[in-house]
Amino acid sequence: MEAVVVYESNFGNTRKVAEAIARGLGPGSHVVEAEKFNAGHLKPGQLLIVGSPINAWRPLPEISGWLEALAPDALSGIRATSFDTRVKSFFHGDAAKKIAHALEAAGAEQAAAPTSYFVEGKEGPLLDGELERAEQWGAQLAAEKVG
Ligand SMILES: Cc1cc2nc3c(=O)[nH]c(=O)nc-3n(C[C@H](O)[C@H](O)[C@H](O)COP(=O)(O)O)c2cc1C
Repeated sequence: MEAVVVYESNFGNTRKVAEAIARGLGPGSHVVEAEKFNAGHLKPGQLLIVGSPINAWRPLPEISGWLEALAPDALSGIRATSFDTRVKSFFHGDAAKKIAHALEAAGAEQAAAPTSYFVEGKEGPLLDGELERAEQWGAQLAAEKVG
């Protein structure tokens, strides 16, 4: 599946989730850090997945900055969705939904609802089963079985 997973990560957990999603998406999918990715290289019909850890209730500045720099129609014709990594707590805030709104504001069509993966503490590790869940999500996205 022609897909790009764009991410940023402080301690590597979000990168591992991005890589697991790409494994599920299958051949033709790429994983790239936001600061190295130019949205102008996306082709119509391609799937874009953007992920960030939640830091202080929001995405990392590198992800927010990248999204804010997109022109209003930069993602027209692109299917997109998002994910975040977070701790299990009442006060986790949100990054995936904020990313999803920004993707839509840039003209993307929502390919699936935003989702979250959990870490044990600030530096991780990811909870058991999260990488498997991420890989499954990628496979479902490739098969268009999630809405
Ligand atoms: C400065 C800082 C702020 C954080 N704020 C939140 C938060 O508001 N909500 C939350 O659920 N997790 C928060 N966390 C935990 C992160 O979600 C966790 O570090 C992240 O998921 C790990 O992913 P990474 O290895 O890709 O950076 C915070 C972590 C740091 C270092």
